[in-house]
Amino acid sequence: MKITVVGTGYVGLVVGVCMADLGHDVTCVDSDEEKIHALLAGRVPIYEPGLDQLLERSVREGRLRFTRDLADGLRHSHIVFLAVGTPSAPDGSADLSGVFAVAAEVAAQALAPVTLIIKSTVPVGTAERVRAHVGERTTQAIEVVSNPEFLKEGAAIDDFLRPDRIVCGVASAEARALMERLYAPLLRTGKPILFMDNRSAELCKYTANAFLATKISFINEIAALCDLVGADVDAVRRGAGSDSRIGQRFFFPGAGYGGSCFPKDVRALVDTARQYGLGLKVVTAVEEVNEAQKHRLADMVIARFGADLTGKRIALWGLAFKPETDDMREAPSLTVVRRLLAAGATVVAYDPEASHEARRLLGDSIEYAPRPMAAVEGADALVLVTEWNEFRSPDLASVAQALRTPVLFDGRNVYAPEQARAAGLEYRCIGRP
Ligand SMILES: NC(=O)c1ccc[n+]([C@@H]2O[C@H](COP(=O)([O-])OP(=O)(O)OC[C@H]3O[C@@H](n4cnc5c(N)ncnc54)[C@H](O)[C@@H]3O)[C@@H](O)[C@H]2O)c1
Repeated sequence: MKITVVGTGYVGLVVGVCMADLGHDVTCVDSDEEKIHALLAGRVPIYEPGLDQLLERSVREGRLRFTRDLADGLRHSHIVFLAVGTPSAPDGSADLSGVFAVAAEVAAQALAPVTLIIKSTVPVGTAERVRAHVGERTTQAIEVVSNPEFLKEGAAIDDFLRPDRIVCGVASAEARALMERLYAPLLRTGKPILFMDNRSAELCKYTANAFLATKISFINEIAALCDLVGADVDAVRRGAGSDSRIGQRFFFPGAGYGGSCFPKDVRALVDTARQYGLGLKVVTAVEEVNEAQKHRLADMVIARFGADLTGKRIALWGLAFKPETDDMREAPSLTVVRRLLAAGATVVAYDPEASHEARRLLGDSIEYAPRPMAAVEGADALVLVTEWNEFRSPDLASVAQALRTPVLFDGRNVYAPEQARAAGLEYRCIGRP
């Protein structure tokens, strides 16, 4: 099939590349000139494991191309995936300007009937609004499908090609048949394609993200209680999470969740409910707990060294919002860095993939180390913010020796307390004695 994908970010590029890998003929469109320029030159503008090899192969075999021109994309195909960003507006609602801009352009350029598949995460009622929006701008039939994406950055290709489920909000039998054909190759493992109305499909995505965020904030609150009562949150989460109704995944305390999805989607869900006169108490608290949690590591450093950190050099391991991505949108590391700088500290950070993004966001306000141990050398403390694999088994004795004062703040509970202490470190973590 011929497919056009509009928006070549963390989702759109993965959708485009994977669809091309499945044998479809794909055109990826983006308004960002720099991005398209990089892609045309064979460079992948984001870090996502495995994406560069798949992309290179599909381009080489002629199934994948890139353009800034949506009209070009539409000449190529009448199946359009819309995967532009839907960031938080200042009032917490989802900013849909990109979605409506693309929808209007599709309507203006359509020379034949089009199926517009909304992959972006959009609030309840958006598909209906998009339908009305395009209806005012063209006489061509534009079918609007809601098809929220559930992939995780860092495992995006596998998630897309081996989904737990595919959710499709459709309003016609034709749209349903098209989606079945489009996704048939991904359904051979028996995982379901779930058809429903547009509104339910839109709400599915927010419900899933808000629930996962709830698990994280919940265990973070329990970790705070563990600190007070002298319990070990590691034992508590294992004991509770072994119940299959609860599960171990997304049940780890840490420095708070970040990224391009949970924070904005939790806020947008609260905003949707507010518009209908409903206060979502649980979800509102999830966001509040998370905001506080993002300050936790900086609070711990300040509690240890005092409110004035002038003259202190603090090493950070990990800047990306989670391992295996270079995405720093709403990353907890940004809160930690800003607090430490505000208290007068010098911050020296190392991240395997996100340093270029950190430079864009933080400029020269911090130092960037070329290797993990180069950050630690001569620092007053080490703060582990993002649990990349390469930080999991360092030589802790060398870390202790390299530090001026051997203090380790483990924001992800990665290390065994007794081993850290045996290595000569003063070890502080989240919710463990
Ligand atoms: N990142 C994730 O892990 C993830 C997972 C599931 C769903 N989502 C959702 O998918 C959507 C996209 O997220 P993302 O992380 O890929 O965003 P992103 O910011 O990485 O990418 C969006 C892309 O759209 C392009 N764009 C914006 N307006 C455009 C326009 N008018 N015409 C053409 N291109 C335009 C931007 O230049 C950018 O390259 C969001 O709604 C997000 O919530 C994201």
